[in-house]
Amino acid sequence: MNSTSSETPAAPIPLSRKPPGQGRTHAPSVGKTACIRTFGCQMNVHDSDRMRRMIQDAGYAEVQRYEDADLVILNTCYVRENAVDRVKGHLGELNRLRREGRVKKVALTGCIGAADESRTLQETYNIDLVLGTHNTYELAEFVGLPTMRETYTPELPGTEGEHSAFVTIMTGCNYKCSYCIVPTVRGRMICRPLDGVVAEVEHLVAGGTKYVTLLGQTVDAWRHEGKRFCDLLEAVSEVAPRVWFTTSHPSNMEDRTLRAIGERDTIVKRLHLPVQSGSDRMLKVMHRGYKAERYRRKIGVFREAAPDGTLSTDIIVGHPGETEEDHEQTLKLVEDCEFDSAYIFKFSPRRGTEAADLPGVVSDAVVQRRFLEVLREIEQNAFKRNQRKVGGVEEIFVRHGATESGKAIGETWSGHAVHVDTAAPPGSYVRATIESAGPHVLYASHMN
Ligand code: 5AD
Ligand code: SF4
Repeated sequence: MNSTSSETPAAPIPLSRKPPGQGRTHAPSVGKTACIRTFGCQMNVHDSDRMRRMIQDAGYAEVQRYEDADLVILNTCYVRENAVDRVKGHLGELNRLRREGRVKKVALTGCIGAADESRTLQETYNIDLVLGTHNTYELAEFVGLPTMRETYTPELPGTEGEHSAFVTIMTGCNYKCSYCIVPTVRGRMICRPLDGVVAEVEHLVAGGTKYVTLLGQTVDAWRHEGKRFCDLLEAVSEVAPRVWFTTSHPSNMEDRTLRAIGERDTIVKRLHLPVQSGSDRMLKVMHRGYKAERYRRKIGVFREAAPDGTLSTDIIVGHPGETEEDHEQTLKLVEDCEFDSAYIFKFSPRRGTEAADLPGVVSDAVVQRRFLEVLREIEQNAFKRNQRKVGGVEEIFVRHGATESGKAIGETWSGHAVHVDTAAPPGSYVRATIESAGPHVLYASHMN
Protein backbone atom coordinates (compact mmCIF):
# COMPACT_ATOMS: atom_id res chain seq x y z
CA MET A 1 0.00 0.00 0.00
CA ASN A 2 2.08 2.97 1.13
CA SER A 3 0.02 5.32 -0.91
CA THR A 4 -1.34 8.70 -0.13
CA SER A 5 -4.37 10.10 -1.83
CA SER A 6 -7.62 11.95 -1.60
CA GLU A 7 -9.27 9.34 -3.76
CA THR A 8 -8.45 6.17 -1.93
CA PRO A 9 -11.02 3.48 -1.24
CA ALA A 10 -13.00 2.99 1.94
CA ALA A 11 -10.69 0.40 3.41
CA PRO A 12 -7.48 0.91 1.50
CA ILE A 13 -6.57 -1.74 -1.00
CA PRO A 14 -3.06 -2.87 -0.17
CA LEU A 15 -1.28 -2.63 -3.50
CA SER A 16 -2.13 -1.05 -6.77
CA ARG A 17 -3.31 -3.98 -8.78
CA LYS A 18 -5.64 -5.24 -11.44
CA PRO A 19 -9.06 -6.43 -10.35
CA PRO A 20 -9.07 -10.17 -9.65
CA GLY A 21 -9.77 -12.18 -12.73
CA GLN A 22 -8.37 -9.60 -15.08
CA GLY A 23 -5.91 -12.14 -16.44
CA ARG A 24 -8.80 -14.43 -17.31
CA THR A 25 -10.50 -12.44 -20.03
CA HIS A 26 -12.62 -14.79 -22.08
CA ALA A 27 -13.52 -14.46 -25.73
CA PRO A 28 -16.66 -12.35 -25.84
CA SER A 29 -18.15 -13.89 -28.94
CA VAL A 30 -19.53 -17.15 -27.51
CA GLY A 31 -22.27 -17.49 -24.87
CA LYS A 32 -23.28 -14.97 -22.26
CA THR A 33 -20.79 -12.45 -21.01
CA ALA A 34 -20.57 -10.31 -17.90
CA CYS A 35 -18.35 -7.55 -16.66
CA ILE A 36 -17.91 -6.65 -12.98
CA ARG A 37 -16.52 -3.26 -11.97
CA THR A 38 -15.56 -2.80 -8.35
CA PHE A 39 -15.34 0.56 -6.62
CA GLY A 40 -14.16 1.15 -3.08
CA CYS A 41 -12.88 -1.01 -0.30
CA GLN A 42 -11.71 -4.57 0.15
CA MET A 43 -15.13 -5.59 1.41
CA ASN A 44 -16.38 -4.69 -2.06
CA VAL A 45 -13.52 -6.54 -3.74
CA HIS A 46 -14.53 -9.55 -1.70
CA ASP A 47 -18.24 -9.17 -2.49
CA SER A 48 -17.34 -8.88 -6.18
CA ASP A 49 -15.55 -12.19 -5.95
CA ARG A 50 -18.66 -13.77 -4.54
CA MET A 51 -20.67 -12.37 -7.44
CA ARG A 52 -17.99 -13.42 -9.90
CA ARG A 53 -18.42 -16.96 -8.66
CA MET A 54 -22.19 -16.73 -9.24
CA ILE A 55 -21.95 -15.42 -12.79
CA GLN A 56 -19.37 -18.06 -13.65
CA ASP A 57 -21.63 -20.79 -12.22
CA ALA A 58 -24.46 -19.37 -14.31
CA GLY A 59 -22.39 -19.86 -17.45
CA TYR A 60 -21.26 -16.29 -18.05
CA ALA A 61 -17.79 -15.67 -19.39
CA GLU A 62 -16.14 -12.74 -17.66
CA VAL A 63 -15.01 -9.88 -19.87
CA GLN A 64 -13.21 -6.67 -19.02
CA ARG A 65 -14.82 -4.19 -21.39
CA TYR A 66 -18.38 -2.97 -21.07
CA GLU A 67 -18.91 -3.19 -24.82
CA ASP A 68 -18.22 -6.95 -24.71
CA ALA A 69 -20.65 -7.60 -21.87
CA ASP A 70 -24.29 -8.70 -21.90
CA LEU A 71 -24.52 -8.00 -18.18
CA VAL A 72 -22.59 -5.28 -16.35
CA ILE A 73 -22.42 -5.27 -12.57
CA LEU A 74 -21.26 -2.09 -10.86
CA ASN A 75 -20.32 -2.90 -7.28
CA THR A 76 -20.23 0.52 -5.71
CA CYS A 77 -18.93 2.67 -2.88
CA TYR A 78 -20.94 5.43 -1.18
CA VAL A 79 -18.45 6.71 1.32
CA ARG A 80 -17.65 10.01 -0.43
CA GLU A 81 -19.53 12.03 -3.02
CA ASN A 82 -16.81 11.66 -5.66
CA ALA A 83 -17.33 7.89 -5.50
CA VAL A 84 -20.98 8.45 -6.47
CA ASP A 85 -20.05 10.89 -9.24
CA ARG A 86 -17.71 8.31 -10.70
CA VAL A 87 -20.46 5.68 -10.74
CA LYS A 88 -22.85 8.11 -12.42
CA GLY A 89 -20.27 8.57 -15.17
CA HIS A 90 -20.16 4.81 -15.69
CA LEU A 91 -23.97 4.57 -15.70
CA GLY A 92 -24.17 7.26 -18.39
CA GLU A 93 -21.68 5.39 -20.53
CA LEU A 94 -23.63 2.14 -20.01
CA ASN A 95 -26.86 3.78 -21.14
CA ARG A 96 -25.14 4.84 -24.34
CA LEU A 97 -23.91 1.27 -24.94
CA ARG A 98 -27.37 -0.05 -24.22
CA ARG A 99 -28.87 2.27 -26.83
CA GLU A 100 -26.34 0.94 -29.30
CA GLY A 101 -27.55 -2.58 -28.45
CA ARG A 102 -24.33 -3.74 -26.89
CA VAL A 103 -24.84 -4.00 -23.13
CA LYS A 104 -28.18 -5.68 -22.33
CA LYS A 105 -28.52 -5.51 -18.56
CA VAL A 106 -27.04 -3.41 -15.79
CA ALA A 107 -26.95 -4.27 -12.09
CA LEU A 108 -26.02 -1.83 -9.35
CA THR A 109 -24.77 -3.44 -6.15
CA GLY A 110 -22.84 -2.50 -3.01
CA CYS A 111 -23.15 0.56 -0.82
CA ILE A 112 -24.96 2.83 -3.28
CA GLY A 113 -27.39 -0.03 -3.81
CA ALA A 114 -28.12 0.00 -0.09
CA ALA A 115 -28.68 3.77 0.02
CA ASP A 116 -31.94 5.62 -0.70
CA GLU A 117 -30.24 7.42 -3.58
CA SER A 118 -30.25 4.15 -5.52
CA ARG A 119 -33.97 4.60 -6.26
CA THR A 120 -33.35 7.87 -8.10
CA LEU A 121 -30.40 6.33 -9.92
CA GLN A 122 -32.48 3.31 -10.91
CA GLU A 123 -35.10 5.55 -12.48
CA THR A 124 -32.67 7.99 -14.10
CA TYR A 125 -30.45 5.33 -15.60
CA ASN A 126 -32.95 2.55 -16.13
CA ILE A 127 -31.02 0.04 -14.01
CA ASP A 128 -32.32 -3.55 -14.17
CA LEU A 129 -31.32 -4.76 -10.72
CA VAL A 130 -30.37 -2.94 -7.54
CA LEU A 131 -28.94 -4.91 -4.62
CA GLY A 132 -27.63 -3.68 -1.28
CA THR A 133 -24.78 -5.13 0.73
CA HIS A 134 -26.83 -7.71 2.61
CA ASN A 135 -28.58 -9.32 -0.30
CA THR A 136 -25.90 -9.76 -2.97
CA TYR A 137 -26.88 -13.43 -2.98
CA GLU A 138 -30.05 -12.37 -4.85
CA LEU A 139 -27.86 -11.91 -7.90
CA ALA A 140 -27.93 -15.71 -8.16
CA GLU A 141 -31.61 -15.71 -9.05
CA PHE A 142 -31.16 -12.81 -11.48
CA VAL A 143 -28.56 -14.75 -13.46
CA GLY A 144 -30.66 -17.92 -13.48
CA LEU A 145 -29.17 -19.89 -10.58
CA PRO A 146 -31.20 -21.49 -7.79
CA THR A 147 -32.12 -19.03 -5.04
CA MET A 148 -29.41 -18.68 -2.40
CA ARG A 149 -29.77 -17.61 1.20
CA GLU A 150 -26.20 -17.53 2.47
CA THR A 151 -24.11 -14.54 3.27
CA TYR A 152 -20.78 -16.33 3.42
CA THR A 153 -19.43 -18.76 0.92
CA PRO A 154 -16.71 -20.85 2.56
CA GLU A 155 -15.70 -22.45 -0.71
CA LEU A 156 -14.84 -19.09 -2.17
CA PRO A 157 -11.51 -19.42 -3.92
CA GLY A 158 -8.65 -17.03 -3.21
CA THR A 159 -9.46 -13.57 -4.37
CA GLU A 160 -6.18 -12.12 -5.57
CA GLY A 161 -5.35 -15.37 -7.31
CA GLU A 162 -4.97 -18.78 -5.73
CA HIS A 163 -2.26 -17.59 -3.35
CA SER A 164 -4.12 -14.84 -1.46
CA ALA A 165 -7.58 -14.67 0.05
CA PHE A 166 -9.79 -12.23 1.87
CA VAL A 167 -11.83 -13.65 4.72
CA THR A 168 -14.66 -11.51 6.08
CA ILE A 169 -14.92 -11.99 9.84
CA MET A 170 -17.48 -9.30 10.58
CA THR A 171 -19.77 -7.01 8.66
CA GLY A 172 -21.34 -3.67 9.55
CA CYS A 173 -20.35 -1.15 12.18
CA ASN A 174 -21.75 -0.17 15.58
CA TYR A 175 -20.11 3.27 15.63
CA LYS A 176 -21.80 6.44 14.52
CA CYS A 177 -18.99 8.65 13.32
CA SER A 178 -20.42 12.03 12.42
CA TYR A 179 -19.30 11.95 8.78
CA CYS A 180 -19.77 8.29 7.90
CA ILE A 181 -22.48 6.62 5.85
CA VAL A 182 -21.20 3.09 6.42
CA PRO A 183 -23.43 2.20 9.40
CA THR A 184 -26.46 3.25 7.30
CA VAL A 185 -25.55 1.19 4.27
CA ARG A 186 -23.81 -1.78 5.91
CA GLY A 187 -25.92 -2.02 9.07
CA ARG A 188 -24.90 -3.03 12.57
CA MET A 189 -22.02 -5.32 13.37
CA ILE A 190 -22.45 -9.03 12.77
CA CYS A 191 -19.55 -11.29 13.77
CA ARG A 192 -18.87 -14.75 12.44
CA PRO A 193 -18.17 -17.57 14.88
CA LEU A 194 -14.47 -18.26 15.43
CA ASP A 195 -14.70 -21.92 14.42
CA GLY A 196 -16.26 -21.02 11.09
CA VAL A 197 -13.51 -18.54 10.31
CA VAL A 198 -10.75 -20.96 11.27
CA ALA A 199 -12.37 -23.74 9.22
CA GLU A 200 -12.56 -21.42 6.22
CA VAL A 201 -8.91 -20.46 6.60
CA GLU A 202 -7.87 -24.12 6.92
CA HIS A 203 -9.85 -24.91 3.81
CA LEU A 204 -8.24 -22.06 1.87
CA VAL A 205 -4.74 -22.99 3.05
CA ALA A 206 -5.31 -26.63 2.07
CA GLY A 207 -6.27 -25.31 -1.36
CA GLY A 208 -3.01 -23.38 -1.71
CA THR A 209 -3.73 -19.98 -0.15
CA LYS A 210 -0.52 -18.50 1.22
CA TYR A 211 -1.81 -15.16 2.48
CA VAL A 212 -5.03 -14.49 4.37
CA THR A 213 -6.41 -11.00 4.97
CA LEU A 214 -9.07 -10.80 7.66
CA LEU A 215 -11.62 -8.21 6.71
CA GLY A 216 -14.18 -6.11 8.51
CA GLN A 217 -15.27 -2.50 8.73
CA THR A 218 -14.06 -2.48 12.33
CA VAL A 219 -12.23 -5.77 12.27
CA ASP A 220 -10.77 -5.43 15.77
CA ALA A 221 -14.27 -4.98 17.21
CA TRP A 222 -14.89 -8.66 16.41
CA ARG A 223 -16.21 -10.57 19.39
CA HIS A 224 -18.13 -13.79 19.71
CA GLU A 225 -19.09 -16.00 22.65
CA GLY A 226 -16.60 -14.37 25.02
CA LYS A 227 -13.75 -14.40 22.50
CA ARG A 228 -12.20 -11.18 21.27
CA PHE A 229 -10.38 -10.20 18.12
CA CYS A 230 -6.94 -11.11 19.44
CA ASP A 231 -8.13 -14.69 20.14
CA LEU A 232 -9.33 -14.99 16.58
CA LEU A 233 -6.16 -13.46 15.13
CA GLU A 234 -4.01 -15.84 17.15
CA ALA A 235 -6.10 -18.83 16.08
CA VAL A 236 -5.81 -17.82 12.43
CA SER A 237 -2.08 -17.16 12.76
CA GLU A 238 -1.68 -20.80 13.87
CA VAL A 239 -3.15 -22.15 10.65
CA ALA A 240 -2.29 -19.54 7.99
CA PRO A 241 1.27 -19.09 6.75
CA ARG A 242 0.78 -15.32 6.49
CA VAL A 243 -1.99 -13.15 7.87
CA TRP A 244 -2.97 -9.47 7.94
CA PHE A 245 -6.15 -7.67 8.92
CA THR A 246 -7.95 -4.45 8.11
CA THR A 247 -9.51 -2.07 9.04
CA SER A 248 -9.22 -1.32 12.73
CA HIS A 249 -10.72 1.19 15.15
CA PRO A 250 -8.46 2.70 17.82
CA SER A 251 -11.08 2.18 20.54
CA ASN A 252 -11.08 -1.55 19.94
CA MET A 253 -7.37 -2.03 19.41
CA GLU A 254 -6.01 -3.93 22.42
CA ASP A 255 -2.37 -3.85 23.50
CA ARG A 256 -2.51 -7.64 23.44
CA THR A 257 -3.23 -7.54 19.70
CA LEU A 258 -0.43 -5.05 19.08
CA ARG A 259 1.99 -7.32 20.93
CA ALA A 260 0.78 -10.37 19.05
CA ILE A 261 1.63 -8.60 15.78
CA GLY A 262 5.21 -8.29 16.98
CA GLU A 263 5.47 -11.74 18.51
CA ARG A 264 3.80 -14.00 16.00
CA ASP A 265 5.92 -14.92 12.99
CA THR A 266 2.99 -15.40 10.64
CA ILE A 267 1.39 -11.99 11.24
CA VAL A 268 2.49 -9.22 8.87
CA LYS A 269 3.85 -6.36 10.95
CA ARG A 270 1.67 -3.77 9.41
CA LEU A 271 -1.05 -1.82 11.18
CA HIS A 272 -3.73 0.30 9.58
CA LEU A 273 -5.29 2.37 12.35
CA PRO A 274 -7.43 5.29 11.18
CA VAL A 275 -7.06 8.31 13.47
CA GLN A 276 -9.10 10.85 11.41
CA SER A 277 -7.86 13.90 13.36
CA GLY A 278 -5.20 14.89 15.87
CA SER A 279 -7.48 17.32 17.68
CA ASP A 280 -9.42 16.12 20.73
CA ARG A 281 -12.10 18.66 19.98
CA MET A 282 -12.62 17.26 16.47
CA LEU A 283 -12.42 13.67 17.67
CA LYS A 284 -15.28 14.48 20.02
CA VAL A 285 -17.33 16.16 17.28
CA MET A 286 -16.68 13.11 15.11
CA HIS A 287 -17.76 10.72 17.95
CA ARG A 288 -14.59 8.73 17.59
CA GLY A 289 -14.53 7.73 21.26
CA TYR A 290 -10.81 8.32 21.96
CA LYS A 291 -8.44 11.21 22.49
CA ALA A 292 -5.26 11.86 20.55
CA GLU A 293 -3.15 10.90 23.54
CA ARG A 294 -4.71 7.45 23.72
CA TYR A 295 -4.03 6.98 20.03
CA ARG A 296 -0.39 8.04 20.50
CA ARG A 297 -0.01 5.59 23.36
CA LYS A 298 -1.28 2.74 21.22
CA ILE A 299 1.15 3.65 18.48
CA GLY A 300 3.89 3.56 21.11
CA VAL A 301 2.89 -0.01 22.00
CA PHE A 302 2.90 -1.00 18.33
CA ARG A 303 6.29 0.58 17.63
CA GLU A 304 7.76 -1.20 20.64
CA ALA A 305 6.20 -4.53 19.68
CA ALA A 306 7.21 -4.27 16.02
CA PRO A 307 9.99 -1.69 15.61
CA ASP A 308 10.36 -2.41 11.89
CA GLY A 309 6.61 -2.53 11.30
CA THR A 310 4.65 -0.18 9.08
CA LEU A 311 1.87 2.06 10.27
CA SER A 312 -0.79 3.69 8.17
CA THR A 313 -3.85 5.74 8.94
CA ASP A 314 -6.85 7.63 7.55
CA ILE A 315 -7.18 11.36 8.05
CA ILE A 316 -10.10 13.64 7.19
CA VAL A 317 -9.34 17.29 6.54
CA GLY A 318 -12.01 19.98 6.53
CA HIS A 319 -14.67 18.32 8.68
CA PRO A 320 -17.22 21.04 9.59
CA GLY A 321 -15.94 23.12 12.47
CA GLU A 322 -12.26 22.25 11.93
CA THR A 323 -10.20 25.28 12.91
CA GLU A 324 -6.61 26.17 12.13
CA GLU A 325 -5.69 25.02 15.62
CA ASP A 326 -7.37 21.64 15.10
CA HIS A 327 -5.47 21.29 11.86
CA GLU A 328 -2.17 22.15 13.58
CA GLN A 329 -2.86 19.38 16.06
CA THR A 330 -3.37 16.92 13.22
CA LEU A 331 -0.04 17.98 11.74
CA LYS A 332 1.59 17.50 15.13
CA LEU A 333 0.12 14.03 15.52
CA VAL A 334 1.27 13.09 12.03
CA GLU A 335 4.77 14.24 12.92
CA ASP A 336 4.78 12.36 16.23
CA CYS A 337 3.41 9.09 14.85
CA GLU A 338 5.76 9.00 11.83
CA PHE A 339 3.25 7.17 9.67
CA ASP A 340 4.61 5.08 6.83
CA SER A 341 1.62 6.04 4.74
CA ALA A 342 -1.79 7.61 5.05
CA TYR A 343 -5.04 7.97 3.21
CA ILE A 344 -6.01 11.61 3.42
CA PHE A 345 -9.61 12.50 2.64
CA LYS A 346 -11.21 15.84 2.05
CA PHE A 347 -14.44 15.90 4.01
CA SER A 348 -17.36 14.97 1.80
CA PRO A 349 -20.87 15.64 3.16
CA ARG A 350 -23.04 12.53 3.00
CA ARG A 351 -26.78 13.06 3.20
CA GLY A 352 -28.17 11.33 6.28
CA THR A 353 -25.02 11.75 8.36
CA GLU A 354 -24.76 14.18 11.25
CA ALA A 355 -21.83 16.11 9.77
CA ALA A 356 -23.74 16.92 6.59
CA ASP A 357 -25.88 19.34 8.61
CA LEU A 358 -23.23 20.77 10.91
CA PRO A 359 -22.30 24.44 10.75
CA GLY A 360 -18.73 25.61 10.22
CA VAL A 361 -18.26 24.38 6.66
CA VAL A 362 -14.62 24.79 5.65
CA SER A 363 -14.01 26.50 2.32
CA ASP A 364 -12.59 24.49 -0.59
CA ALA A 365 -9.45 26.60 -0.68
CA VAL A 366 -8.73 26.00 3.00
CA VAL A 367 -9.48 22.28 2.66
CA GLN A 368 -7.07 22.07 -0.26
CA ARG A 369 -4.29 23.83 1.63
CA ARG A 370 -4.77 21.66 4.72
CA PHE A 371 -4.85 18.57 2.54
CA LEU A 372 -1.52 19.50 0.97
CA GLU A 373 0.04 20.30 4.32
CA VAL A 374 -0.92 16.93 5.76
CA LEU A 375 0.18 15.22 2.55
CA ARG A 376 3.59 16.90 2.64
CA GLU A 377 4.16 15.88 6.25
CA ILE A 378 3.12 12.29 5.57
CA GLU A 379 5.27 11.97 2.46
CA GLN A 380 8.33 13.41 4.14
CA ASN A 381 7.99 10.92 6.98
CA ALA A 382 7.28 8.03 4.68
CA PHE A 383 10.24 8.84 2.49
CA LYS A 384 12.56 9.13 5.49
CA ARG A 385 11.36 5.85 6.96
CA ASN A 386 11.64 4.05 3.63
CA GLN A 387 15.18 5.35 3.12
CA ARG A 388 16.20 3.47 6.25
CA LYS A 389 15.42 0.20 4.49
CA VAL A 390 17.90 0.83 1.64
CA GLY A 391 20.84 -1.59 1.67
CA GLY A 392 18.99 -4.16 3.77
CA VAL A 393 18.09 -7.68 2.68
CA GLU A 394 14.42 -8.60 2.94
CA GLU A 395 12.31 -11.69 2.54
CA ILE A 396 9.60 -10.64 0.11
CA PHE A 397 6.26 -12.30 -0.49
CA VAL A 398 5.44 -12.03 -4.20
CA ARG A 399 1.86 -10.84 -4.50
CA HIS A 400 1.68 -10.11 -8.21
CA GLY A 401 4.00 -11.73 -10.73
CA ALA A 402 6.29 -9.77 -13.00
CA THR A 403 4.82 -7.54 -15.67
CA GLU A 404 6.51 -7.05 -19.06
CA SER A 405 8.92 -4.67 -17.33
CA GLY A 406 10.18 -7.64 -15.28
CA LYS A 407 9.01 -6.14 -11.98
CA ALA A 408 6.90 -8.13 -9.58
CA ILE A 409 5.02 -6.53 -6.67
CA GLY A 410 5.71 -7.93 -3.26
CA GLU A 411 5.49 -7.23 0.43
CA THR A 412 8.08 -7.47 3.20
CA TRP A 413 7.21 -8.98 6.58
CA SER A 414 7.06 -5.44 7.91
CA GLY A 415 4.39 -4.63 5.34
CA HIS A 416 6.37 -2.50 2.88
CA ALA A 417 5.31 -2.66 -0.74
CA VAL A 418 8.29 -3.62 -2.92
CA HIS A 419 8.84 -3.63 -6.65
CA VAL A 420 11.21 -6.50 -7.16
CA ASP A 421 13.07 -7.78 -10.18
CA THR A 422 12.09 -11.43 -10.23
CA ALA A 423 10.30 -13.99 -12.32
CA ALA A 424 9.17 -15.85 -9.19
CA PRO A 425 5.44 -16.65 -9.28
CA PRO A 426 2.84 -15.06 -7.00
CA GLY A 427 2.69 -16.77 -3.65
CA SER A 428 6.43 -17.44 -3.44
CA TYR A 429 9.09 -15.77 -1.34
CA VAL A 430 12.29 -14.21 -2.63
CA ARG A 431 15.22 -12.66 -0.81
CA ALA A 432 16.26 -9.34 -2.22
CA THR A 433 18.40 -6.31 -1.45
CA ILE A 434 16.55 -3.02 -1.19
CA GLU A 435 18.31 -0.73 -3.63
CA SER A 436 16.27 2.43 -3.44
CA ALA A 437 13.09 3.82 -1.95
CA GLY A 438 10.42 6.37 -2.72
CA PRO A 439 7.71 7.58 -0.36
CA HIS A 440 5.36 4.79 -1.42
CA VAL A 441 7.44 1.81 -2.50
CA LEU A 442 10.80 0.12 -2.07
CA TYR A 443 12.76 -1.11 -5.09
CA ALA A 444 14.75 -4.33 -4.95
CA SER A 445 16.55 -6.87 -7.09
CA HIS A 446 16.33 -10.58 -6.51
CA MET A 447 19.38 -12.30 -4.99
CA ASN A 448 18.90 -16.03 -5.54
N1 5AD B 1 -15.74 12.37 3.97
C1 5AD B 1 -14.42 12.15 3.88
N2 5AD B 1 -13.84 11.01 4.26
C2 5AD B 1 -14.63 10.04 4.75
N3 5AD B 1 -14.34 8.81 5.20
C3 5AD B 1 -15.49 8.22 5.56
N4 5AD B 1 -16.53 9.05 5.37
C4 5AD B 1 -16.02 10.20 4.86
C5 5AD B 1 -16.57 11.43 4.45
N5 5AD B 1 -17.88 11.66 4.54
C6 5AD B 1 -13.00 8.29 5.28
C7 5AD B 1 -12.55 8.01 6.73
C8 5AD B 1 -12.58 6.53 6.80
C9 5AD B 1 -12.25 6.14 5.38
C10 5AD B 1 -12.59 4.77 5.05
O1 5AD B 1 -12.97 7.06 4.59
O2 5AD B 1 -11.24 8.48 6.89
O3 5AD B 1 -11.64 5.98 7.72
FE1 SF4 C 1 -17.56 4.68 9.54
FE2 SF4 C 1 -16.73 5.26 12.01
FE3 SF4 C 1 -17.82 2.84 11.47
FE4 SF4 C 1 -15.40 3.44 10.51
S1 SF4 C 1 -15.95 3.26 12.69
S2 SF4 C 1 -17.10 2.46 9.38
S3 SF4 C 1 -15.58 5.62 10.09
S4 SF4 C 1 -18.86 4.81 11.41
